Formats: sequence, C-alpha cells, structure tokens
Amino acid sequence: MNFTLQIWRQDRPGDAGRYETIEAHDIDAEASFLEMLDQVNERLIAQGSRAVAFDSDCREGICGACSLTIDGLPHGPQQVTTCQTYMRDFRDGQTIRIEPFRNNAFPVLRDLVTDRSALDRIVQAGGYISTTTGPQPEPNANPVSPETQKKAMDASICIGCGACVAACPNGAAMLFTGAKVQHLNVLPQGQPERTERVISMVHQMDDEGFGGCTNFGECSLACPQEISIDVIGTLYREYRRAVRDEKKAGKKMVAQ
Ligand code: SF4
Ligand code: FES
Repeated sequence: MNFTLQIWRQDRPGDAGRYETIEAHDIDAEASFLEMLDQVNERLIAQGSRAVAFDSDCREGICGACSLTIDGLPHGPQQVTTCQTYMRDFRDGQTIRIEPFRNNAFPVLRDLVTDRSALDRIVQAGGYISTTTGPQPEPNANPVSPETQKKAMDASICIGCGACVAACPNGAAMLFTGAKVQHLNVLPQGQPERTERVISMVHQMDDEGFGGCTNFGECSLACPQEISIDVIGTLYREYRRAVRDEKKAGKKMVAQ
C-alpha cells in the first residue's frame, strides 16, 4: 500500500512547527501504524534526513506511550491505541494527517512526542494507600462485592495515554482523573486516604491547566480502554463528599 503522510515536524519545544509531506511506499497492509512509521524513518535515515520522532514502548496496547493524532482522532479511527491500528484500516493511496496530541498541558517536545507528565503528577498527588504488612490476612477479612470489584477493575485499566484529554474540546482530564480516583476510592483498601486523595488529585488537575467537563463525551469515545464517562460522575460525587467531610471536620477548606 502507498500513503501520503502529512506529518507534524517540530524541532524543539516552543518552535512554530509545520506539516511536512512524506510519501510512504510499499507498506504491508498488515503493518501496524507504528511499523509503517518505522519504515518511513528507515528511508528518511537512508536519505540522510532526520527521522520522525514518535513515542512507543510496549506496542501491545498496554503502556499508553504511542500517543499521536491520526486525521484529527487521538490514536486514530479504531478506538484502539496507535500501536494496535493497522494499515489495512486505511485506503490505498490515502492522505493521512499525523500530529501530536494537542493540549496546553501536553507541550510538544519534538514532532509527535509530547510531554504528558502532567498526568503522572495527578497520580502522584493522589498519594499512597495504607496497607498493613506482615502475615497474609484471612481471605474473607475484607469482603468486596462483585459490583464494587467490577467498578474498581473497570476503572483501573486506564493506561494513562491522554487520548481523552486530546479528544476533549475543553482539554479536560476528568475521564483520566475519574478513573484513577474510582479505582481506589471504591475499594476498602482505598478508604483511609479517600478524602485527601480526591481533593489533591482534582487540585493538581486544575493546577496543570486542564479544562473542565461539559459533557461532550468525546473522551470516552476516544478512549482505547473504553473507560465509561460514568467515572466523571464518580469524580464529582467523591469530590463533593470530600469537601463536605472536610467542612464537617472543621478543617481549613482546601477547595478552590
Ligand atoms: S481514560 Fe482512556 S483515554 Fe484517558 S488516559 Fe485513561 S486510557 Fe487513555
Ligand atoms: S506502545 Fe504501548 S500502548 Fe502503544
């Protein structure tokens, strides 16, 4: 297959950047999108040109590193990660526009590579969970209902790719933050730091410059892990409860 790629090229952070047209020839239909980019880079290097910088790690849909936008859609048209997108999903001869995730909190480092450590700082703000060390507890000491277990596990599969942020017209990170809050706050193990966790994570999210949710729903549609938009409802409820509890406890209001 042959493709005309319009790829975002940017030498360093803060540069204006531009689209460059690069031809991709003789691409196997079974090649993944990243393998196609690998082939393009091999040719660019052979010609003495600078390779296109892009992120990847596991190439199995697990790590969330391969974040880029294909024809305006974060990760591309299939609601899977870029590394799980295959060239057979495109038309032979198609022009494909490839650019980095766009969000002020995700500065472009080079070409398609963005700095998404703002998401790591939200997780960091959530802190730790208290667990006891020592002998293994009796298995039924902490019963968790199947419904609660499902709620926690469904949220815990977020891979932190940032597609939800890139898809949101408000640049909100509430699907990500909601998933991270839900997967700990509904479990018994997450209770001791429940209040502090949600308040700190929401404040960090605001400090990083992400927008707020106004129910577009694009985040959930772009999410390769199909995280439900319901986690944003959980985030609101957890935050409201936490602020109320802080007030009741007479603590200095930390909400802004
Ligand atoms: S919620 Fe989905 S789109 Fe957002 S960071 Fe997690 S896995 Fe990626
Ligand atoms: S490279 Fe790890 S999810 Fe794509």
